Amino acid sequence: MRSRLPKVLFLAVLIALSLYVFEKWTSTLPSIPSHPQPSEVYRLISPSSYKYLLNQPDLCKNRKPFLVLLIPVTGYDSESRDAIRKTWGQENLIPDFDIARLFFIGQLRERDLKFEEDLLKESTTYGDIIQMDFLDTYHNLTIKTMMIMNWMASYCRSARYAMKIDADIFLNVPYLVKYLQSKAEHNFITGSVITDGRPRRDPNSKWFLSKQLYSENLFPPYVSGAGYVFSADLAKKISMASKFVRPIPMEDVYVGLCLHFLNIRPQFAWKLWPYRNLFEVRHLDYDRCVFAKRIIVTGFTSTQLVNMWTDLKNAAFSC
Ligand SMILES: *[C@@H]1O[C@H](CO)[C@@H](O)[C@H](O)[C@H]1NC(C)=O
Repeated sequence: MRSRLPKVLFLAVLIALSLYVFEKWTSTLPSIPSHPQPSEVYRLISPSSYKYLLNQPDLCKNRKPFLVLLIPVTGYDSESRDAIRKTWGQENLIPDFDIARLFFIGQLRERDLKFEEDLLKESTTYGDIIQMDFLDTYHNLTIKTMMIMNWMASYCRSARYAMKIDADIFLNVPYLVKYLQSKAEHNFITGSVITDGRPRRDPNSKWFLSKQLYSENLFPPYVSGAGYVFSADLAKKISMASKFVRPIPMEDVYVGLCLHFLNIRPQFAWKLWPYRNLFEVRHLDYDRCVFAKRIIVTGFTSTQLVNMWTDLKNAAFSC
C-alpha cells in the first residue's frame, strides 16, 4: 500500500494557506480620514481643553537633549519616581549625552491638599513634574499621551529623540544611546512592534473597543505602550494627526492610528545571535548578561529596579 502521507501533507498546507488568505482578505484597516474630526469629538484629547497645574517650560531652554524620557505616572507614585531618579532616569548618566527626564501626572478625583503640597515640593526640588487637570485614569491614558506629545512639540523642539516609558520598566540607557546613534533622526519610531493587533469585542475585556469607536477588525502596526522611542519631530506630527483620528482609549493603538494617518511605519528592534526583541514586553527574571543586551524589560517593582541597577553597573565589564 502506498503511503497517504503526501496527500495529507498537501491537504494540510492547502488548508493553512486558505486560512491565511481568508484572514488577510477579511482584515481591514481604516481609511485615511481627509477631514478633521468634529470639534466636540476632538475636544476630549485637544491640549487646549486642559491646563497645566505644574509645568517645566524652561527644561529644554539653552540645551539640546539627545533624549527626553517621558514617564506617565499617577500622583501617589512618588516611590517609583524616586527609584527612577536613582536608576535609569538619573542625570549625567552618560558622558556627552544630555538626557532629560519628565513625569506626567493627571488629577485626582477629589482634592487632597496634603498631596498637592507634597507634589509641589517634589516638583520644586527636582524640576521634573508636569501635571494637567484631566482625571488620571486608565481610560484617559490616550489624553495623557497626547499631552506628552504636545508638551514635546511646544517646549522641547531642540531634542533629538524622545521615549515614552512606563514606570515599572527596566531601561538600559547606555545600550539605548548606542543603538540610537545609527538611527534616523526624522519620522523614526521603534519599540515592540505589534502587526496583528485586533480590537476586542467582548464588553468584559479590559481592552474592549466598541464597533462604534473602531469599526475595522485589524489595527495598523503599532508599538507597545510599555516603552517606545521616537525622533522628536514626530511629537508635532502625531499631535497634528490627532486632529483627524478619532480617539480610542488605548493609547498605543491610538499612536499607531496616527502613524497610519502619517504613513509612517514603526521599526522593529530585533537583533540576531542570539535572536532577541530589544524591547522585551514579556517579563524576564533578572539576569545580568541577558539584561545587558536589551533596551527594556517590563514588570518590576521600585525595589527590584534599584537592586538590578546596582548589579548591572558591573555588567558592561563582565558580559
Ligand atoms: C477623562 O478626563 C476627563 C477630564 O478630566 C473626565 O471628564 C473624564 O471623566 C475622564 N474619563 C475617564 C474614563 O476617566
